[in-house]
Amino acid sequence: MLKFSCLLVALGLLCVSCNSEGKTKGLVTDIEPVSKTQLEVRYAALLNYELDSLGFPRSFTKPDLKVRKVPSKDWTSGFFPGNLWQIYKLTGDTNFMERAAKWTAFVEKEKYNNHTHDMGFKVFSSFGEGYKVTKSEAYKTILLESAQTLATRFDAKVGSIRSWDFNADIWEFPVIIDNMMNLELLFEATQLSGDSIYHNIAVEHANTTMKNHFRKDGSTWHVLDYDKTTGAVRARVTHQGVHDNSVWSRGQAWAINGFTMAYRYTNDLKYLERAKATANFFIHHEKMPEDGIPYWDLDHPEIPNISRDVSAAAIIASALVELYNYTNVSAYLDYSKKVVQTLKSSDYILSKDMDTPFILDHSFGDWSKRLEMDEPIVYGDYYFLQTLLRLKEVEQDL
Ligand code: GLY
Repeated sequence: MLKFSCLLVALGLLCVSCNSEGKTKGLVTDIEPVSKTQLEVRYAALLNYELDSLGFPRSFTKPDLKVRKVPSKDWTSGFFPGNLWQIYKLTGDTNFMERAAKWTAFVEKEKYNNHTHDMGFKVFSSFGEGYKVTKSEAYKTILLESAQTLATRFDAKVGSIRSWDFNADIWEFPVIIDNMMNLELLFEATQLSGDSIYHNIAVEHANTTMKNHFRKDGSTWHVLDYDKTTGAVRARVTHQGVHDNSVWSRGQAWAINGFTMAYRYTNDLKYLERAKATANFFIHHEKMPEDGIPYWDLDHPEIPNISRDVSAAAIIASALVELYNYTNVSAYLDYSKKVVQTLKSSDYILSKDMDTPFILDHSFGDWSKRLEMDEPIVYGDYYFLQTLLRLKEVEQDL
């Protein structure tokens, strides 16, 4: 039996504070265009999804209405447990916490997988979220073991963590902008262990990325290929964008979020400036739609007849709440609120009768594989929930 009373009480309290204080106007409490029940039904769909240690829900294929499941080695496996941890934090309903712990356990074997840089996505979104809630010593140990594995992919000559091992005939040492997100695991590992090695690797990686990955206008390339012997840049290309010099929206999102997070752990103002420059470029871009949900690539020649990317919007919305906290620039908070408002409308939130463990429609996965083009995708939900939590905190501070 589901317990949504906590959610109702929490949302109710927020609305009371909004009405009585009168100073939270325009914040998350004011932007509930779909009924609360619809969001609750979506949360319930995640809770009730059948446990499967080998099949994490990643996306929902629209033509045949099937859940696409992936094993724990997939870069997205940690997000589904992370969604349950976050819904627990939003609602206080312990059923979500119990379910989150069960799904999280299925990710553990990834702590020794050194074939990928995606350790942060997998382990920090699951065990990291769980650790924030439980402070479990067992989770802490797994986070540290995972950070040790990720650190083995660092190359001192290049000054970066290697992202991918595939396409070895084309790329010598590929580093993608997405990799900034995996640094959170390393920064956190130093805080948990007191060992500065993880923090130092993260800083080196962020500095190398800052130096080489950005264009003059503030946007970022997707893939940089480095010469392993000299550390020089061999190529600046794309893998998932429409062309090498295009503005692939999720890449910009990873950059904004990643550098805002790097500032959180270092207080280094150059990271803050980096995040601001890319955010300013992107949210004020002439091709950015009014509702704040970007096309999947802002340089696509067929705009406006291409799909949006809800995941990019949510990753940026979450980052910009944090960036607002550091800068007090209201445009950042305004963008985040606008995105949440849009995503809570019936155009984006899945209807109550959709039997699928997702919340939002219209994320864009991977153009290089022609995969998940305009579908519900698990990481769109993850950063949406993170944005809700961050907006709630901002409200409490005002
Ligand atoms: N590599 C993560 C992404 O597709 O955005």
